[in-house]
Amino acid sequence: MQNLDWGNLGFEVRRTNAVIVSKFKDGKWSEPEVCKDLDITLNVYAGVLHYSNSCFEGLKAFRGADGKVRLFRPDENAKRMARAGQFLDMAYPSEEMFVKMCLMCVKENLDFLPPYGYNASMYLRPLLIGSNPQLNLLTSTEVTFIVMGNPVGSYSGAAALTSVNAVICRDYDRAAPNGTGSYKLSANYAPSFRAYNLAHAAGYKELLFLDSATHTKIDEFGSSNFFGIKGDSYITPLSNSVLPSITNKSLQTIAEDFGLKVEKRAIPLEELPELEEVNACGTAVVITPIWNIVDKPFIQSEEITADYKYAEPGVCGVTSAKLYKQIRAIQDGLEADIHNWCVEL
Ligand SMILES: Cc1ncc(COP(=O)(O)O)c(C=O)c1O
Repeated sequence: MQNLDWGNLGFEVRRTNAVIVSKFKDGKWSEPEVCKDLDITLNVYAGVLHYSNSCFEGLKAFRGADGKVRLFRPDENAKRMARAGQFLDMAYPSEEMFVKMCLMCVKENLDFLPPYGYNASMYLRPLLIGSNPQLNLLTSTEVTFIVMGNPVGSYSGAAALTSVNAVICRDYDRAAPNGTGSYKLSANYAPSFRAYNLAHAAGYKELLFLDSATHTKIDEFGSSNFFGIKGDSYITPLSNSVLPSITNKSLQTIAEDFGLKVEKRAIPLEELPELEEVNACGTAVVITPIWNIVDKPFIQSEEITADYKYAEPGVCGVTSAKLYKQIRAIQDGLEADIHNWCVEL
């Protein structure tokens, strides 16, 4: 076991033992290899460097209370990467190959997998890139698939379920209507960096994007889905610009298990005052409760046009906390995995 400060890992890159690599060339994937050198060599004309023909995934492996190692729904990440690969018209790993390489990665880096009890895990980052040299705007003929693993703790440094503030982003759109928002393409992320920097500089932790066609409906946060609780309903946007979050999908199932009604539908901005609890959800933190959402003409504007409040700063809603505890208990092997979500090493 590595001698790391497991309770204070944060969300940073650490040099681990190995990554797992497979290359697609001449119509077939090579046998996955354990690669101890984390620096890869790419031709300067590799398509990914110029045209961003690339997509990635994010999932976690947990060391359970019972000592077993579990990957949370890797089959879902494999399916989502397949959708992105199809969208990019490039070769992508089969579900079997994807899951196998994730398991190989955890095994090779087992001494970096945090012990149970620190609310820490191994974040797996599968990456698919067009790697053949190209100047023409053509589909990649050679593709590299790499699975990396990194021990992580708290994304923001705060304790789990610490609520944060959010601002609506009216300066930039995350995804065009009928664009790439529902695929986990690398190219979707760099365009939000500046908006996030502006939001952070203005004192907001989260950035909420609206549908870019009309700016009247909620889409999602920059790297997590949106859901709200109203009465006994779990409400989350139905939009073709939102990334289908595996955490959101799992929380919806748990919500139904708990007797809540799941509503997947457009959420107009006017509904924000009616929601009782609001959260961002995603693999990195499961749930980040949102205590308020501020609307203003642009992120750094002094003028505030609306301020929706859901909790006291730092506090999480009761229903949201219940959903969080259940999903984490399944990941940690404390609750029965009745939906067969976890894949054991
Ligand atoms: C834009 C976006 N939305 C939502 C999510 C949450 O998805 P998941 O729950 O599968 O991690 C992510 C993270 O992957 C994301 O980048």
